[in-house]
Amino acid sequence: MDGDRFSEEEIVANTIVTMVGGQETTTNLIGNGVLALLRHPVELERLKADHSRIPCAVEEMLRFEPPSQHTARLAPYDTEMGGKFIRKRQAVIAVMAAGNRDPERFPDPDRFDCSREDNRHLSFGWAAHFCFGAALARIEGQIAFEAMLRRLPSWTLEPGPLAWRTNLGLRGLEALPLTFKNASTGPLRSDLSPCP
Ligand code: HEM
Repeated sequence: MDGDRFSEEEIVANTIVTMVGGQETTTNLIGNGVLALLRHPVELERLKADHSRIPCAVEEMLRFEPPSQHTARLAPYDTEMGGKFIRKRQAVIAVMAAGNRDPERFPDPDRFDCSREDNRHLSFGWAAHFCFGAALARIEGQIAFEAMLRRLPSWTLEPGPLAWRTNLGLRGLEALPLTFKNASTGPLRSDLSPCP
C-alpha cells in the first residue's frame, strides 16, 4: 500500500511460513483428532450419530491436542509477568497448549468434550500474528472428519505403541495405524454450520 512493497527476503519468508504453517499443522489436527476420538469412544459415537457436531468437535481437538504447541517473542520493553521480571529483548516462549488447559479458563480442562461451550482456545495464536490460515484449517478439518465418519464408519486402532514426532513445536504422531470396515461411498454433505 502507498508504494510499500515486500522485499525478496520478506516474500521468501512469508512463502516458507505459509507452506510450513499450512501443511504439518493441518495433518496433525486430523491425526491428533482421530486419536482423541478413538480414546474417547462416547464422544466418537455422539459425533457419528450427529455430524452437525463436527465443527465444535474440531475446535475441541484443536484445544485438547494443539498441532502447534508454542510460539516465541522478544519482549519489546522491560516488564513483569506472573511474578517474573523480563528484560527488553529477552526471549519469551508462550505455550498455547498450556493456556488451553488453564482450569481458570476451561472447566475440567483435561476432559475431551466435543460439546464444550465458549471454547476460545489459543491454538491459532493471538492478536497481530493470529493464524492467517485458521479459516482454511477449520474447513479442512471439518471436511476430513465428515468424510471419515461418513465413509469409514468403524475405526479401530491397531495394537502397539504410538510414537509422537520429536518436534518440540509441532505435536503430531509418526503414524496412526487404523483398520476400518463398512466403507460406503455416499455423497458428502457440505452444510455444516460453524461452532458458535
Ligand atoms: C490446524 C492448522 C493450523 C494451526 C494449528 C496453525 C497454528 C498457527 C499459529 C499458532 C500461528 C501463530 C504463530 C505465532 O503467533 O507466532 C500461526 C500463524 C500462521 N499460520 Fe497457521 N496454523 C494452521 C494452519 C495454517 C494454514 C492452513 C495456513 C496457510 C494456508 C497457515 C498459515 C499461517 C501463517 C502465514 C501464519 C503467520 C501469520 C502472521 O505472522 O501474521 N496456517 N498458525
